[in-house]
Amino acid sequence: MATRQFTLTDNSTGKTSTLEALSPSVGPDVLNIAPLAKDHGVYTFDPGFMSTAACESAITYLDGEAGVLQYRGYPIEQLAESSNYLEVAYLLLNGELPTAQEYDAWSHEITYHTFIHENVRKRFLEGFHYDAHPMGMLVSAVAALSTFYHDAKDIDNPEILHKQIVRLIAKMPTLAAGAHRFMVGMPFVYPDNTLDFTSNFLSMMWKVAEPHYEPNPVLAHALDVLFILHADHEQNCGTTAMRTVASAHADPYSATAAAAAALYGPRHGGANEAVIRMLMQIGSIDNVPGYIERVKRGEVLLQGFGHRVYKNYDPRARIIKQVADEVFEVTGKNPLLDIALKLEEIALSDDYFVSRKLYPNVDFYSGLIYQAMGFPMEMFTVLFAIPRTAGWLAHMKELLEQDLKITRPRQLYVGPEVRDYVGIDAR
Ligand SMILES: CC(C)(COP(=O)(O)OP(=O)(O)OC[C@H]1O[C@@H](n2cnc3c(N)ncnc32)[C@H](O)[C@@H]1OP(=O)(O)O)[C@@H](O)C(=O)NCCC(=O)NCCS
Repeated sequence: MATRQFTLTDNSTGKTSTLEALSPSVGPDVLNIAPLAKDHGVYTFDPGFMSTAACESAITYLDGEAGVLQYRGYPIEQLAESSNYLEVAYLLLNGELPTAQEYDAWSHEITYHTFIHENVRKRFLEGFHYDAHPMGMLVSAVAALSTFYHDAKDIDNPEILHKQIVRLIAKMPTLAAGAHRFMVGMPFVYPDNTLDFTSNFLSMMWKVAEPHYEPNPVLAHALDVLFILHADHEQNCGTTAMRTVASAHADPYSATAAAAAALYGPRHGGANEAVIRMLMQIGSIDNVPGYIERVKRGEVLLQGFGHRVYKNYDPRARIIKQVADEVFEVTGKNPLLDIALKLEEIALSDDYFVSRKLYPNVDFYSGLIYQAMGFPMEMFTVLFAIPRTAGWLAHMKELLEQDLKITRPRQLYVGPEVRDYVGIDAR
């Protein structure tokens, strides 16, 4: 197929430029606007990156109109059905599914890096104020890891970079569970290397005095599926933060902390907590129509609905709905589920939501599952950060391999023109 070309004319000078569209392997073409500044002395203006492709990437493909999500070409539905989180992490990072031998080596490496340095626990986790939010603890503890691994700065050495990637993926559940135990005043639980990745996390979360904690396999599998669904999501806010900080060649711990900080925001990874708070506030099915009316009047948001990219049912929400049924078989139904189902039913048939293409996103049902499994709401974003670490690091690795320039956008300056300083007495 011939390359699409666009001609841009500056109507004040008559000067024209030819801009070429770059063709992706799948999806819409992307216009290369690099010559604009050189040829015409103008920059492009696109706050929030509404129509800007910020980089070239071969990791995740999503088509928001069609509700499609693929990691390295594999549909999310197939990975959720047949794979596991560690295998998906390998896929994201390396581009291919591992052979049996590669998987064993990878799983062994991750398992044997789950322990954290005792000073990370004693000085950092246990140094926080008694009511610290676990997500704040996680962001800070991840950044603090960079002070323990000085070799992490050597990002040009693939072996050293790989070691940090393994450490981060392996230690994330340990830090996350440690933050939770501190929050609830329970003693820290060391990793159990006889358990798989997700079961080990559940052991560190819930173990009390038993010598060995064996989680319910249905719940461990459900959480593993949720980890797969959250492992990557193209150029979202947190990943963009990761790429921006990594483009400055910060070490992987500092860059991951920046990405996790972005995830902490309620417009991003904090939305599932907001969904539960909304459902609790609604309180009963009878109050659902009234709440929908308030949403339509613009007084409140329907949390867990709408997405910057998905203008169709989020494919992850569909899978999560099935997982919810399996979890509720074990835990008993979350009483908030009926309110959520009613909200979805009314919203999907109401013109306000239909015309704006507002559908349930990944956060609409995930909080209900986490809550039924016993996770406090403060842990919800932490549960998102654990698997997303693989995606963030895959993007950092890709960016370094592409040897990209530092991220440095331009701006449309709207401040005052130059003026003279006025001494304080004369103001
Ligand atoms: C995710 C989100 C930030 C995307 O925002 P966005 O792409 O900038 O979309 P916009 O804010 O431009 O929304 C488009 C329209 O839909 C409305 N809208 C978007 N999300 C809405 C929601 N959850 N409830 C009610 N109205 C919503 C907006 O008010 C706007 O209406 P308008 O055209 O009359 O002004 C937004 O949908 C949202 O805040 N959702 C709730 C939080 C959430 O679930 N986040 C998790 C995302 S995975």
